[in-house]
Amino acid sequence: MATAVITGGTDGIGRGLAEVYLRRGFEVLVVGRDRQKGRAFEAAGERARFVSADLSRVAENRRLADQISEQYPVLDVLVLGARFHRQTRALTADGFESNFALFYLSRFLLSHGLVGPLSRAESPVVLNFGGAGQTGPVRWDDLQLERGYHGVGAMGHAGRLNDLLGVDVVDTHADTGIRYVLNHPGVVATSFAGEYDPATATQIDQLKVIGKSVATAVAQILPFLEPPEQERLTAVLEGQRVPLEPESQYLDDARRLRSLTLDLLTRFDGRTT
Ligand SMILES: NC(=O)c1ccc[n+]([C@@H]2O[C@H](COP(=O)([O-])OP(=O)(O)OC[C@H]3O[C@@H](n4cnc5c(N)ncnc54)[C@H](OP(=O)(O)O)[C@@H]3O)[C@@H](O)[C@H]2O)c1
Repeated sequence: MATAVITGGTDGIGRGLAEVYLRRGFEVLVVGRDRQKGRAFEAAGERARFVSADLSRVAENRRLADQISEQYPVLDVLVLGARFHRQTRALTADGFESNFALFYLSRFLLSHGLVGPLSRAESPVVLNFGGAGQTGPVRWDDLQLERGYHGVGAMGHAGRLNDLLGVDVVDTHADTGIRYVLNHPGVVATSFAGEYDPATATQIDQLKVIGKSVATAVAQILPFLEPPEQERLTAVLEGQRVPLEPESQYLDDARRLRSLTLDLLTRFDGRTT
């Protein structure tokens, strides 16, 4: 049976994708923190699975990658969609800036940590909601945004890091058939998980009114996830393929970010991968 693992699959676009893959006969494991939402998903049937994990914690990502690798020796689809907006800068219990931890580091750990089961699938694909080339420069000297933190900017910065992660994964695992898709879905009416001040909460309520539906966002990205697509790295903005240029600069930056990330993880828990 084909399998899909979806972080952020308890809500929003992730949940929409989870339902599509369930209808297609996949076994679908969604990952989130909210057990109530998880149980609601599991009620869809025995192929609907939920695991609770706080993906802002390094050890939780490592545990999850080990658990999935054991449970699913072959993994067809990995969707990386967990996010949580923070209006003010916050540190995780591990001491990392929260967007950096949840939006980037978790996706780094799961993308690389699940290469084994992914590479055994016939047509494996990873979908990561990155910036799809729409975000600004990397703050190399301040990756965890200690200076001038801005909530929306922090998500954009993490989106940029995820674009580089996509370049890194196809570069590092060039000997596998894993395809990596970066998607910026545009404004989508979801729960917009996060903590907002009253003024921003009002803006978020407006986005929920004007945003496209989850069904539309899912329909815009699905064609890029399945055969006959063969491109190793694809960036998609609201259903349109967009370039990730200049490619050579992206590769240099991706390797630089990979090296910095591995140094940081080694300093954190002594592990080199
Ligand atoms: N919606 C938009 O307009 C928009 C625009 C651009 C990009 N995107 C991107 O699209 C992706 C999906 O966004 P969305 O709006 O559909 O999401 P959403 O509805 O806000 O849901 C967020 C998901 O992340 C999970 N999550 C939050 N913190 C977590 C943590 N610490 N550990 C594990 N899971 C956690 C939540 O699970 P629990 O509630 O179970 O904890 C939930 O399933 C994100 O990467 C987002 O950046 C969305």
